[in-house]
Amino acid sequence: MVMEKCFFGLPNVIESQQFDRVWLEHKFFPLARQMKHVVEFGGTELLHGKKMIALFYEPSTRTRMSFQMAMLYLGGQVCATENAREFSSAIKGETLADTIRVLCGYRPDVIVLRHYEAGSAATAVQYSSVPVINAGDGKGQHPTQALLDIFTIQEKLGHLDELSVAMVGDLVNGRTVRSLAYLLAKFKKQRIFFVSPDCAKMEDKMIEYLRERNVVVTESNDLREVAPHVDVVYQTRTQKERGGNFDRNDHSLGYFIVDRDILGHMKPDAMIMHPLPRVDEISPDVDLDKRAAYFEQAENGLYTRMALLKMILVPRA
Ligand code: CP
Repeated sequence: MVMEKCFFGLPNVIESQQFDRVWLEHKFFPLARQMKHVVEFGGTELLHGKKMIALFYEPSTRTRMSFQMAMLYLGGQVCATENAREFSSAIKGETLADTIRVLCGYRPDVIVLRHYEAGSAATAVQYSSVPVINAGDGKGQHPTQALLDIFTIQEKLGHLDELSVAMVGDLVNGRTVRSLAYLLAKFKKQRIFFVSPDCAKMEDKMIEYLRERNVVVTESNDLREVAPHVDVVYQTRTQKERGGNFDRNDHSLGYFIVDRDILGHMKPDAMIMHPLPRVDEISPDVDLDKRAAYFEQAENGLYTRMALLKMILVPRA
């Protein structure tokens, strides 16, 4: 079994807490690096005969495409729906539980699920006879994003202990920050700055969880004050589809945009991350700065998802 914790006896991927640092450092990161070489050499047939269903009830570019491409590079096959909320029988009132039961009858080897409700991946696991991978569940978690994020930090900075990370933007609605924070808490001497307007603050429960694990947590509403102290600025979009709504140009709320001003405040060897898609929270003139890591971060989604699929589908190969 590849993970610290199983859900219903299968290697399902549901939440970031299920991974541990030994698994990350000794199994997952080396395999993700190998997968980069596999892609550079044009792919492999390691997953020949394996079939993935990508069941996406919410829009996605990176997660869906990188999972699909991961399967193709590994020689497997994909069956996908991109707007299941509208174009599947969900529109007729079918429950997720029934959909999962039916799809399992078609004998996939893994189901990758994105859904608009927190907890839906855990629900799917209860009705699935094959592993389920949570590709983002509402305001819940996005664990495979956290895996690619932490891999990117490791590859760029060369360490994961003693990090200072600013998580910026819509923290109450964003699932990527929560999933990454859970993973960072597994490493030593972490400091996290949550930078948001009052209307989008990280929930107390998450802050308590981190403090219980000796993560030093500081809240702020001004990225200019925080930027000089951090190794990573992790910017996030305002999640309008989940009710997020604040104007980043209203500086009475604080300062939450990564622009040339912020670059001037940051350490020369820091990095800027963003799960993407970006709207207006990182100005395009930041892209050419060597600290901008968000496109490389998105690319790492391919290698890390290949590693995950390999571990789940052919763990002994
Ligand atoms: N980062 C991320 O999950 O992007 P998508 O919504 O495009 O998959």
